[in-house]
Amino acid sequence: MKKETKGASHHEPVLLGPAISGLNLKVDGWYIDGTFGRGGHSGAILNNLGPDGHLLAIDRDPQAISSAPESLRNDPRLELLHGEFSEIKRYAIERNMLGKVDGLLLDLGVSSPQLDTAMRGFSFQSDGPLDMRMDPSKDESAAHWIATVEERTLKRVLQQFGEERFSGRIARAIVAARSATKIESTAQLAEIVRQAVPARGQKRHPATKTFQAIRIFINRELAELERALEASIELLRPGGRLCVISFHSLEDRRVKRFMREHSLEAEPYRGLPDIPPEHRPQLKLVGKMISPSDDEIAGNVRARSSRLRIAERLSCA
Ligand SMILES: C[S@@+](CC[C@H](N)C(=O)[O-])C[C@H]1O[C@@H](n2cnc3c(N)ncnc32)[C@H](O)[C@@H]1O
Repeated sequence: MKKETKGASHHEPVLLGPAISGLNLKVDGWYIDGTFGRGGHSGAILNNLGPDGHLLAIDRDPQAISSAPESLRNDPRLELLHGEFSEIKRYAIERNMLGKVDGLLLDLGVSSPQLDTAMRGFSFQSDGPLDMRMDPSKDESAAHWIATVEERTLKRVLQQFGEERFSGRIARAIVAARSATKIESTAQLAEIVRQAVPARGQKRHPATKTFQAIRIFINRELAELERALEASIELLRPGGRLCVISFHSLEDRRVKRFMREHSLEAEPYRGLPDIPPEHRPQLKLVGKMISPSDDEIAGNVRARSSRLRIAERLSCA
């Protein structure tokens, strides 16, 4: 849970212990944290590295980069980069590290400071401008997109990225509402959704799935994930670890499928004695999916839906 005493810029790292042990850190290893956030996992990685270890930490949110504490910023083993993790292959090539990376961590989704800062427009809990961009210097805001999107596209986005069963009603209500007034704030959108869906004894706010869907769409989150997963095969050295923490089934399904597919021989060769190297499995699953303990959830409710999956790069020789 957001710890009130720690302030709006605090993020409690999720599944920290299991993710760090999953990375199987070597003191002089070369690591990538694709989702720096507030540096919880990065700090723990650095604590386990010796003077010759290296960490490239990436975040697409300029505020995440500028909020990095001095202690991390001054660490010569850390390189902090404003960018997208879909570009990790390019970043590794630029650093002559393709195929030499010892571990890649992705802790997906948004950080507590992003959710808790009303001005970022991610949350229906507090009113703010309807933005939702992780990198506000790029692409279009949620408000801009909602102002012009076709009803059927909006419906598809709500279905596909929110698995929202009332996608049709909500899309219709949004399109009707915007003809009367511009939808520019998170509270406006949340209220339109609340009125559009039947009132039942829901545990969650009726706009939860709508906000999730629009955020995933605006930030191209699933495409980012797919690109990073694909790149991880070329990125990692044999024995290198891929650790991914996801927060909803759309992400976790992709991670699970990717790790499974790459841990099997290619279809036409399955079960044959001599499999050409390029068709052998490239990953080995490490343990089962890990969920947070009851204690972790009790202290941090945002950990509730987190899932960690770990795979190790195999040698194809
Ligand atoms: C859950 S937080 C990470 C928290 C971090 N592990 C910590 O302990 O402080 C996710 C972070 O990843 C960033 N992010 C999400 N998608 C990204 C992408 N495609 N490329 C780079 N950063 C991304 C977000 O901006 C956010 O800061």
